[in-house]
Amino acid sequence: MKQENKSVHGVWGSRWVFILAATGSAVGLGNIWRFPYITGENGGGAFVLLYLLCIAVVGIPIMAAEVMLGRKGGLSPINTMRKLAGESKVTQRWAGIGHMGVLSAFLILSFYSVVASWALYYAWEAVAGGFQGITAAQSGARFDALLADPWLMMGCHTLFMVLTMVVVGRGVKGGLEKAVEILMPLLFVLLLVLVGYAATTPGFKEGLLFLFEPDFSKLNGKVVITAVGQAFFTLSLGMGAIMAYGAYMPREAAGKKGGKPKPVSIMSTVIIIALLDTLVALGSGVAMFPLIFSNDLQVGQGPGMMFVTLPLAFGQMPGGMLFGSLFFILVVSAAWSSSISLGEPVVAWLVERGLSRGVA
Ligand code: PFF
Repeated sequence: MKQENKSVHGVWGSRWVFILAATGSAVGLGNIWRFPYITGENGGGAFVLLYLLCIAVVGIPIMAAEVMLGRKGGLSPINTMRKLAGESKVTQRWAGIGHMGVLSAFLILSFYSVVASWALYYAWEAVAGGFQGITAAQSGARFDALLADPWLMMGCHTLFMVLTMVVVGRGVKGGLEKAVEILMPLLFVLLLVLVGYAATTPGFKEGLLFLFEPDFSKLNGKVVITAVGQAFFTLSLGMGAIMAYGAYMPREAAGKKGGKPKPVSIMSTVIIIALLDTLVALGSGVAMFPLIFSNDLQVGQGPGMMFVTLPLAFGQMPGGMLFGSLFFILVVSAAWSSSISLGEPVVAWLVERGLSRGVA
């Protein structure tokens, strides 16, 4: 029996739009902000290998499972789980998985948007030339001053949330689809430009060695847990986001030149998404570490690496104002497309409960 995709929220225009949207969810602060600093803290190459293994053996199968559930249910994660449990004649408690996912996405959005709003502020600072010639002390003081200024943070945060909610409010076709069709190509072009720039710096080789030369003595139980956690976070797993996006996935793709439509394969689609996500994480490392090594700065700086160390590097390098601006625009675009996917599961659920999208 042919099954229609009946999602009340709409359907992605094509399989490629779904790939762009899910990649937009996956690629975010986790790739550009978190991956480089935890790689720095966990010793580089060996951690990267472990992370790649986790993506392949844990991340990809779970992502495929989430997409499959979402596509079968066609609803928000909560109602998808409820509907599928009903159809399978098993306990409705399975809906708890949907509730936990939606709640997690909402909670993640509450801190994710804060870090994204710092990036928004830094994009503004970079464009205004605020990094030029700063010292290490000044760079640290700027970040501390931002964190100590509730009005400034609230202003940036409000702006970022408005950007996110405008897109989610416009729905799958008019909002999410349009946003990812612009943001994702922009993101890949910016990343390519930044990797090209890093390749011209004296610390390029050192940066590559740090990322790709494994030192297995650095591995321990904590590093393993960090790598698994990063694989989940970076692929947006377990939060309902991918299940919600899977609900809007078309069942069939147009065949070649008007031929018969072909079923859309979930596994190959998910593998492409995971590859693109991994490419961006590694690309961010390749773009960032050479700048840090070229300027004799430290890699193990924790969450402050992007907001304290990198501005210092940009402030000291030729072309730093341009490339610093491009870098923070990249971060904001990536965080934006991920935040949209964190908002969508809860909004879709509220819409199913009778609210209009705008109000939700
Ligand atoms: N995958 C995003 C990132 O790497 O930044 C974060 C994220 C988005 C996590 C959506 C979970 C989620 F549902």
